[in-house]
Amino acid sequence: MVASFGDRVLAGLSVVVSAGPTYEDIDPVRFIGNRSSGKMGFAVAEAAARAGAQVTLVAGPVTLATPHGIGKRIDVRSAAQMHAAVADAATQADIYIGAAAVGDYRPNTVAEHKLKKQHGTDLTLQLAENPDILASLSSRQGHPFLVGFAAETQNVESYARDKLQRKGLDMIAANQVGDGMGFETADNAITLYWADGSAELARADKAVLARQLVEHIAKRYKAVRG
Ligand code: CTP
Ligand code: CA
Repeated sequence: MVASFGDRVLAGLSVVVSAGPTYEDIDPVRFIGNRSSGKMGFAVAEAAARAGAQVTLVAGPVTLATPHGIGKRIDVRSAAQMHAAVADAATQADIYIGAAAVGDYRPNTVAEHKLKKQHGTDLTLQLAENPDILASLSSRQGHPFLVGFAAETQNVESYARDKLQRKGLDMIAANQVGDGMGFETADNAITLYWADGSAELARADKAVLARQLVEHIAKRYKAVRG
């Protein structure tokens, strides 16, 4: 139990959390997706609600029940749908936490009918780049306090700090994935980075990490916006 968990450190604040993967359809039966389970984002949404925030959860395709205390849940499928839902919800928000694993590319065209196998030939898919949800928020006047996630298989700190700066974020939660860590697991280990500091959150259950993350977000939010 985290000592300050009883403190409603986000009382009176409106928080939008995105969670889960996005699916980019190829045809009516196939898609390009990624290995996010949504567990970390859902745990963060629940922790923010317990800390007193009014929470909107924008969820990609996941098989998770809505956590206790969530004000509103919006289910989406593609990155474009997630972008639209987040852009709308974030106009009223004090904090946006981008825990979703947003697909970077989508097929240029979605086939109306199931693609048929062409025996003996390779298939090439043309992909178009998806908009960056976090970066598009940071270019808005009066944007919310922005928290990103970075799942990396190598060079965790340098890639995370690069994303912090490039996307105009207030904080980034970085973790090493691969070798059974991070994806589709119940626990995780995170390092938080902000412009002039960092904090290590040791490997723990995602619910425990989410509470610690929320406490750090509240502290940084008050330091820069308070
Ligand atoms: N993100 C986003 N919109 C996208 C892609 C990513 O808002 N189109 C957000 C994610 O929700 C996450 C952060 O950006 O909070 C970092 O995502 P990541 O995939 O690590 O960053 P990319 O810039 O896509 O870099 P790469 O995949 O090449 O590592
Ligand atoms: Ca990406």
